[in-house]
Amino acid sequence: MSTLAKCSGDDAGRVEAGPLARLARYWPRRVAAADPLAAALVDHHRTGRPRRVVATRADGASFEIETEEYFTLEGRLAELDQIALDRCRGRVLDVGAGAGRHARALAARGLEVVAIDVSPLAVSLCRGRGVGDARILDVMEIDSESGLGQFDTLFFGMQTIGVAGGVETLRRLLERLKSVLAPGGELVVDSSELREAWQGDEADTRPTRGEIVLSTRYRGWRGEPFAWLYLSEQDLRSVASEAGFGMETLGRVERGEYLAALRLETCGPSRSHG
Ligand SMILES: C[S@@+](CC[C@H](N)C(=O)[O-])C[C@H]1O[C@@H](n2cnc3c(N)ncnc32)[C@H](O)[C@@H]1O
Repeated sequence: MSTLAKCSGDDAGRVEAGPLARLARYWPRRVAAADPLAAALVDHHRTGRPRRVVATRADGASFEIETEEYFTLEGRLAELDQIALDRCRGRVLDVGAGAGRHARALAARGLEVVAIDVSPLAVSLCRGRGVGDARILDVMEIDSESGLGQFDTLFFGMQTIGVAGGVETLRRLLERLKSVLAPGGELVVDSSELREAWQGDEADTRPTRGEIVLSTRYRGWRGEPFAWLYLSEQDLRSVASEAGFGMETLGRVERGEYLAALRLETCGPSRSHG
């Protein structure tokens, strides 16, 4: 566990308040990959003021993550969020729950929700915001021994399926998730194609073109670099098929973001790539 992860939510504001604030921006402290974003979410919740996290790709491109979207279901992807919530049923695992916006909405609809996040800060934030069952857990380590039981819906909101980091690791993740999927259950996931080509290589059309490495930075903390995966609809369909899942597209919005349900095929993997 990182130094930051051991801190309480209030400690997350310590660098800003201290005299070394400016220096800390130049010599950031290394923390676990997910903690800069989680610390920003904690600060947003604590102060009511939106925060910005800088994400830098290993190829040099960078972008900002704004925290508002993590607290509302009326944001840029409201349409897909609504379809996703309507699709969830039974016992739901909210994977990478962040500040818990989906978990709260699902619980309000009377569904049983288990929220997991790899960041202890995010999990304590979820609990503080009323998510009844929030656990620190890395989805990449889930298997039949995790003691989670089985779920009717495995929900990955806001492109969280990207934590798989690569096409082959996603295929293996899908294989392992079968052990926590109840009969007839499904995954609900969203993703999009990578918009700015990795290392500027626009000619790369392989499914792996959406495999990137990035790190995030918030105030005096820089997260360890981590792999993230963007997948086009067609490529997700293909990987899902290799793992034995059929895919149904539930919605699409501008700029290529889509929502899909993955359900185990009864006749085994088709190995088709269409
Ligand atoms: C893009 S955010 C989405 C947050 C939330 N689902 C939402 O829609 O507001 C991804 C979340 O996944 C968490 N995360 C990253 N890697 C993870 C992993 N391996 N297992 C579980 N959670 C992870 C991060 O801490 C972060 O909260």
